[in-house]
Amino acid sequence: MSKPNWKNFEHFKYKNLDLLKQAFQDLELKVPFSTNTNCLKTLIYKNGIFIPNRLSIQPMEAVDANEQGGPSELTKRRYLRYAKSGAGLIWFEATSILEESKSNPNQFTINNSNVKNFRELVEEIKELGTKTLEKIGFEKRPILILQLNHSGRYSKRGHKRTPFRTYENEELDRAIGINSEESSILTDNELKNIENIWVEKSILAKEAGFDGVDIKSCHGYLINDLLCSRSRSNSDYGGPSLKNRSKLLIDIISKLRKKYPTNNDFIITTRLGVYDGIPYPNGFGVREDEEGIIPPLIDLKEPLQLIKMLYDRGVHLINITMGNPYYMPHITRPFNQPGNSSNIPDEHPLFGAYRHYKTVHDIKEQSPSGIIIVGSAYSYLQQFAGYVAAGLVENNWVDICGFGRMAFANPNFPIQIYKEGKIDSKRTCITCSQCTELKKAGRSTGCALRDKEFYAPISNSQKN
Ligand SMILES: Cc1cc2nc3c(=O)[nH]c(=O)nc-3n(C[C@H](O)[C@H](O)[C@H](O)COP(=O)(O)O)c2cc1C
Repeated sequence: MSKPNWKNFEHFKYKNLDLLKQAFQDLELKVPFSTNTNCLKTLIYKNGIFIPNRLSIQPMEAVDANEQGGPSELTKRRYLRYAKSGAGLIWFEATSILEESKSNPNQFTINNSNVKNFRELVEEIKELGTKTLEKIGFEKRPILILQLNHSGRYSKRGHKRTPFRTYENEELDRAIGINSEESSILTDNELKNIENIWVEKSILAKEAGFDGVDIKSCHGYLINDLLCSRSRSNSDYGGPSLKNRSKLLIDIISKLRKKYPTNNDFIITTRLGVYDGIPYPNGFGVREDEEGIIPPLIDLKEPLQLIKMLYDRGVHLINITMGNPYYMPHITRPFNQPGNSSNIPDEHPLFGAYRHYKTVHDIKEQSPSGIIIVGSAYSYLQQFAGYVAAGLVENNWVDICGFGRMAFANPNFPIQIYKEGKIDSKRTCITCSQCTELKKAGRSTGCALRDKEFYAPISNSQKN
């Protein structure tokens, strides 16, 4: 069988929009574009959730929490830049529910001692965000969501890995250089305890003034690990049935919905990994019957069932992502440069971007119409990303376009799109992976190209 033509990696070389469109066409990938970006200025309102426009900041861990796990001066600078961006939805980065479930020592964690620091930051962001939105003609204020996480297999104490697994997966362990003797599998009792802590921390997020909480279910972390735990035996939280594998997520959400019955009380959401590229039986959202195809083909049967279960329990906003960045980073974030510690993937990055857009389209088409869907992976398209975002929203492929790396490089991208109709090519993210490298080295991260003064590029001698 001949290799599909998207199997070849190519660097980003598109000098104008026509060349980018042509490249998608040459790969036979149908992506809608629109040079009229006005649709991104429209509000969306469903089931009591009002979002003033269609652009969002995605959660981006920046390794800059202070010693108490709260926001530092650098954190504050970053989020105030987001508040001035004009984005209608600001999704705060991964915040650990426990000290021991952090992915790095400078990850956020929320607790009784630092909740007031979060509250101060949230108030400032709401005030500045509202002023910014009013100035550019939007109604109401940005919506603020806090992402709460347990890092599971990817937990660290200090800089040492201290994994909490939910099932054996040697391939994932090998990818991060650990072996199964180094930790045991979490018991059902331990998972039940984690459920209670997750609920308590969500209540703290509400006290801090967030509009909602994201029970993170993606990128290989604890809840996503459980979704893949078909080989977990004698457990209420794993095995063949999706009901068991999604129990932790569903139980947390059900408890929170009981406490906060409507979205006006508190938005309960999740960032859901709908496909991780890991072969069956350990992958989620993958075809069962395609042995030897790496990454395997997508099968949305279980992700769609899960979205329906979530909808029935009052989840009306969902942020769709894919991949496990510790295993195949290009699936989560198509890039132009792989970063020093990864390889060039055997895949065209335009195909990687398309995989996100088309999957979100398919999910949107088959999910209840009362859910607001946020999509990912637009930064790879650099200064042309606004035209694709507009095309996707206009054609109902997605409701809100969330930008990650672009927000580090160029937090003003929403205002540039609203006012100029496009992203400034001199400020755009170039997906060079320096932000990832800084994070991997345990350093505070941001854009080493566009924000050099704060985030100098990493040299070989500085790596952990
Ligand atoms: C440095 C870095 C930190 C990230 N932190 C988070 C995070 O805290 N939570 C999360 O869900 N995704 C995180 N992501 C993934 C992004 O939110 C986003 O899904 C990904 O970068 C693709 O979107 P983009 O093309 O706009 O960058 C991170 C990505 C990078 C590069």
